[in-house]
Amino acid sequence: MAKERVVLAYSGGLDTSVAIGWIGERTGAEVITVAVDVGQGGEDLETIRQRALDCGAVEAYIADARDEFASEYCMPALKAGALYMDAYPLISAISRPVIVKHLVAAARQFGASTVAHGCTGKGNDQVRFENGITQLGPDLACLSPVRDLALTREFAIDYANKHNLPIETTHHNPFSIDQNVWGRAIETGYLEDLWNAPTKDVYTYTDDPTYPPLPDEVIITFEGGIPVKIDGEAVTPLQAIEQLNKRAGKQGIGRIDVVEDRYVGIKSREIYEAPGAMALLTAHKELENVTMDREQARFKRTVADRWADIVYEGQWFSPLKRSLDAYIEDTQRYVSGDIRMVMHGGRATVTGRRSEASLYDFNLATYDAGDSFDQSHAKGFIELTGLPAKLAAARDVTFGRGVAIPPARLN
Ligand code: ARG
Repeated sequence: MAKERVVLAYSGGLDTSVAIGWIGERTGAEVITVAVDVGQGGEDLETIRQRALDCGAVEAYIADARDEFASEYCMPALKAGALYMDAYPLISAISRPVIVKHLVAAARQFGASTVAHGCTGKGNDQVRFENGITQLGPDLACLSPVRDLALTREFAIDYANKHNLPIETTHHNPFSIDQNVWGRAIETGYLEDLWNAPTKDVYTYTDDPTYPPLPDEVIITFEGGIPVKIDGEAVTPLQAIEQLNKRAGKQGIGRIDVVEDRYVGIKSREIYEAPGAMALLTAHKELENVTMDREQARFKRTVADRWADIVYEGQWFSPLKRSLDAYIEDTQRYVSGDIRMVMHGGRATVTGRRSEASLYDFNLATYDAGDSFDQSHAKGFIELTGLPAKLAAARDVTFGRGVAIPPARLN
């Protein structure tokens, strides 16, 4: 009988390199690795592929998913305006589903029944992988060698040395890092003490905003909520993010330091840097302010919060996520136009906006002559909108519970 096959999400690092052989030993299955480029930089995919084969993979699948990730994962996050806990632009959370898609595709291609990942049992990423895998392939089983097969860091170092695996075991990065084109997440090490400020070596996408270069003015053109030009030059979503990562990164924009509520119940200290994402989110938000109806925008904030929560919780391929996407997509119909920003010293500040679909009406807004707003309507408007609370206030007075107003002091 043919051996069982396991598809493993492969980063090229120590843990997943050791996992190839370890899964084989512990389960008797053949291992197929999958490495997905979501713009994390570092080693090229071919090097990673060769390492997987050298570590014992029977097949090594690689996928350049940078454009796919930018267009189909980052752009929905931008259109949603999604920030988990009002702070975190979901960097890792949106990369897991695109990786999962390629994992499941490889499982089908190579006839695997199980999909494995290198996450620990303490984080959100295991939830995202496993929910994603079972939402795209309900018949597939999930395996976490670190969590389920006791693949600890010390064991991995021993194993790699004993088996002469072509992987560095001495270099020890003090941080746990996950990065892609949407940003970079840094955890652990001395950052686990909440009082410790991050040191310079934590950051690679951003320069220190304390000593910025000259201000950088940028004009971003959006169509239907998506950036299509920067300073008049056509860009793909990937190019827009990459260009702004560089330019906003030089200005130190998008550094985030928060204590975050993990889905598994733990509070954790997180440092993020997302210069391109935060610059785009700032511009996009202001264009919405100009082009989106007030009530639609108000409800969208609720939708965006919920969208961020469920994406954080690994529900990318869920029915609710799909329904919220439909709402968000509909709101983006008129989010087209130009936003001008000055990026400097850690901030992207909007200084201009123009749109053919603008709802801003100069004649209604102006305090100058020629104003078309009929102020006489305001009186009745206030009376009616204030009526419910006025009735309640009068009742409070009747029951002796009116808001106590201290007498004005005359001196
Ligand atoms: N806390 C963030 C999240 O859950 C970042 C996770 C980063 N992952 C990692 N393996 N270091 O999205």
